[in-house]
Order: sequence, then C-alpha cells, then structure tokens
Amino acid sequence: MQISCWFCSLLCLSLQSVPGTSVLHTLRYFYTASSDVPNFPEFVAVGYVDDVQIDHYDSNTRREVPKQDWMKDAVDEQYWERKTGNRINAQQTFKVNIEILKQRFNQTGGVHIVQLMYGCEWDDETGDVDGYEQYGYDGEDFISLNLKEQIWIAPNQQAFITKLKWDNDKAWMSNQKHYYTEECPEWLKKYVNAGRSSLMRTDLPSIQLLQRTPSSPVTCHATGFYPRYAVMFWRKDQEEEVLEGVDHGEMLPNHDGSFQMSVDLNISLIRAEDWSRYDCVFQIKGVEEDLTVTLDKSVILSNWRKSDGGERLTEWKSTRRQFSSKSIDI
Ligand SMILES: *[C@@H]1O[C@H](CO)[C@@H](O)[C@H](O)[C@H]1NC(C)=O
Ligand SMILES: *[C@@H]1O[C@H](CO)[C@@H](O)[C@H](O)[C@H]1NC(C)=O
Repeated sequence: MQISCWFCSLLCLSLQSVPGTSVLHTLRYFYTASSDVPNFPEFVAVGYVDDVQIDHYDSNTRREVPKQDWMKDAVDEQYWERKTGNRINAQQTFKVNIEILKQRFNQTGGVHIVQLMYGCEWDDETGDVDGYEQYGYDGEDFISLNLKEQIWIAPNQQAFITKLKWDNDKAWMSNQKHYYTEECPEWLKKYVNAGRSSLMRTDLPSIQLLQRTPSSPVTCHATGFYPRYAVMFWRKDQEEEVLEGVDHGEMLPNHDGSFQMSVDLNISLIRAEDWSRYDCVFQIKGVEEDLTVTLDKSVILSNWRKSDGGERLTEWKSTRRQFSSKSIDI
C-alpha cells in the first residue's frame, strides 16, 4: 500500500516488511603488507566497527590515528601510543613474513602481498561472541584459525609448515582464545557504546533508474544508504518479486562510509503497456517502509536519450578495497 511520494515522485513509501532489531556487531582489522608496489606503503593496518572505519596506520606515517571522533571518547590518551607500538611491531613482522613466503614459494622478486583479517563479533541480543583470524598470500587463502577446535587450517603445502609450527604453540593458542572470546568483544562493546548514535543511524539512499542503450536492461541503483543491511529487488503488481531476467549487483562501499547497490531488469521481456506494473523496491533494516521506484521511461537516466541533455551516468563503481594480516612469524 503506497501512502506518500517524495523525491520527485520517484520514491514512494509503502507500508511493508518489518526488519528485525537484533544486531550483530563486528570489530575487524585488516593488515596489508606488500613488497615492490610503487607509491603504496609497504604496510597498512585499518580497523572497522560494523563497516565503519575506526582507525588507520601505515608505514609512511608510522602513527595509529582515529578515523572517528567518537573513538577518542572510547579510549584513554595512551591508547594511540600503545597501538602505534603494536603496529610498528606488526610492520616488522610482516616484512619478515613476506620474505619467508617468497622463499617458500620459490619467488625471487616482484610484487607480493600478505594480508591478515582478524576480529570478533558480538550479538547484542544473545550475547554470543566469535572470533576469526585469516591470512592470505598473493590473493589466495594462506592459513586461518579455527577458534572452536583451536587448530589452524592450511589449504596448501606451503602453509602446512606454518600450521605445524602454530598448532604446537599451545601457550599462544590459549592467548588467542582469550583475546578473541574475551578481550576483543570487550573492546567491541566499548567502541559500539561510544559510537552508538553514529553506528545505529539509518541513512536512506537516493534511487535512480539508469539505462545504457534503449535495449539494455534497466538498472535500479541505490546509493548513500547506511547500514549495509538492505535488500533491493524488482516487484510486479505490488506483490510478487520478479526473478526472471533480473541480475543483482554486488553491494559496494562508498568513500563516505555509506553503501550502494543495483539490480538490473531485462526489459526485452516486458511489453510497453506493462511497464507501470513493475517497481524497484528497496528495504533497509530499521525502516518499516519500502522505498519504491516505478518502471517509467520518463524517469530513466540514460546516455542515449537527447532529453537527458547527454547527462552522464552517475559514477557508481567507487570501491574501497582493503585487506588484511598479526604479529607473529609465518
Ligand atoms: C621450490 O623449489 C624446491 C627445490 O627445487 C622444490 O622442491 C619445491 O617443490 C618448489 N616449491 C614450489 C612452490 O615451487
Ligand atoms: C534479455 O532477454 C532476452 C530474451 O530472453 C535475451 O535474448 C537477452 O540476451 C537478455 N538480455 C540480457 C542483457 O541478459
């Protein structure tokens, strides 16, 4: 049921699904160590709470700095000094790790990348916590922690050497377990409390219909929404989701911390008089109303149509790619 329209009558609010309220919070750190990549620091470490970047370190600046004002409220003054020290250690360890891995893979030079992603999650309703630690080398999985079994998983022979070494270090494994099930979730709760008003906000997207040529699929594109817990689909006659001729794009992060996504509809299967029976529907967690855009030639932005004044398609492939790695020799 549509109750009102806004945004140049492109977006209509209708009373529909009621997304749940339990929230899984995450704290994740990504280390990227590289060799021989021009104009890129050889070591970068970034932290995220619920997809919001909280801090940054790289080997050029050699300082751990907050990326959100509320992070300054969550921690004491010495926190940034301590963390800077940790990152400098990690930087050195990862420099050594790249050399070890190059040898292990019989590589002499060139571009190589070691990544680490580690962190924990906390369900604020059930109180459940979990942790993870995963290494990658040159874009492939290298080794990962199975916290429950307390063993390392190595998918290939080169990592098996590391697995044997790390599985044997029982004291370190017990530290790991403590970190991921106690310390990490404690920090996460602290950060979430400090950033609550910002992390729990809801930003609605702007939604546009785009088309490259008159016969191309029509792309429904939503950008600027937060959080990422959103779905978008094409609907016919206000009720059934269209499955045929529909192609869902990836959800992508924008530089300002919001998200974008798109869903294509193949219009060659649709008769002209039936266009108005189709809506693009956007739903986001915490908002009961759907945002909808009705399929309509007059609202489609395109490159080919004169009436658009040759308007360019909005840039909608701005991606952030950051990866991961911790402070122990491989
Ligand atoms: C590296 O070289 C050694 C000795 O020639 C060989 O046994 C090993 O299989 C090589 N490893 C890889 C990953 O090619
Ligand atoms: C759209 O559907 C038609 C008819 O099934 C098909 O020939 C065409 O390849 C489809 N276009 C795209 C972009 O998938």
